[in-house]
Amino acid sequence: MTDDSALVVADHVSRTYGRGPSAVVAVHGTSCRILAGEQIALVGPSGSGKSTLVHLLAGLDTPTNGVIRWPGLGGLPARLPAGSLGLVFQGPSLLPDLDIAENVAFPLVLSGHPGPSARAAAVMMLRELDLADLADKVPGEISGGQAQRVAVARALVARPRLILADEPTGQLDHASAAIVVALLTDRAHELNAGLLVTTHDPWVAAQLEIQWHMIDGRPRFSQAMVP
Ligand SMILES: Nc1ncnc2c1ncn2[C@@H]1O[C@H](COP(=O)(O)OP(=O)(O)O)[C@@H](O)[C@H]1O
Ligand SMILES: [Mg+2]
Repeated sequence: MTDDSALVVADHVSRTYGRGPSAVVAVHGTSCRILAGEQIALVGPSGSGKSTLVHLLAGLDTPTNGVIRWPGLGGLPARLPAGSLGLVFQGPSLLPDLDIAENVAFPLVLSGHPGPSARAAAVMMLRELDLADLADKVPGEISGGQAQRVAVARALVARPRLILADEPTGQLDHASAAIVVALLTDRAHELNAGLLVTTHDPWVAAQLEIQWHMIDGRPRFSQAMVP
């Protein structure tokens, strides 16, 4: 398989924050790619550069050096119809003035679905995560763990081809984490999507087929598929 079919390709990518003596190199010359159907855990301690790499792979941030391409998606995710990329952010990311169903429906509305059908799809997705009774609440009325599960529902609702989930289980107890990981892996499998999940939890990492270990801004790959 060539890079042309990869959903995302990072070619010798680095990201440095700041300049001069206080500069922090968060990601060091990294080359990696994610293919359709691959399920990858990006494992590493806090500060090792996982979120930075996720933001680069999502096209939300620009590398200081090197190049990121999305050949299998057809271009930069931000310029494509919503739904190519499903993203779960590490921190709180729900829109506070929308109710939970509207938050989950948001990617569908952005890609042109009429409000009522988008809301119906959002409520169905919430039901699959056992969150249907939150549909009419607003983010300020739900717990941090519930908000993280809602963010997962939002990432999945538009049937993305690439799913990047940054510590999606970070605020969850084990039972909830297991549900969320199973949902991500099952849904990614159904969609033949590429899935990258960052975590520092070895149990979560073990649920994914491939592990990349992030150490000081450099992923080490446990598979020989990397360029
Ligand atoms: N916006 C930023 N400005 C300056 N330094 C940052 C910024 N974001 C992250 N960093 C630094 O980059 C390194 C990697 O951070 P991050 O990618 O958030 O790691 P992780 O997600 O593995 O915890 C850390 O040293 C962090 O302090
Ligand atoms: Mg992080």
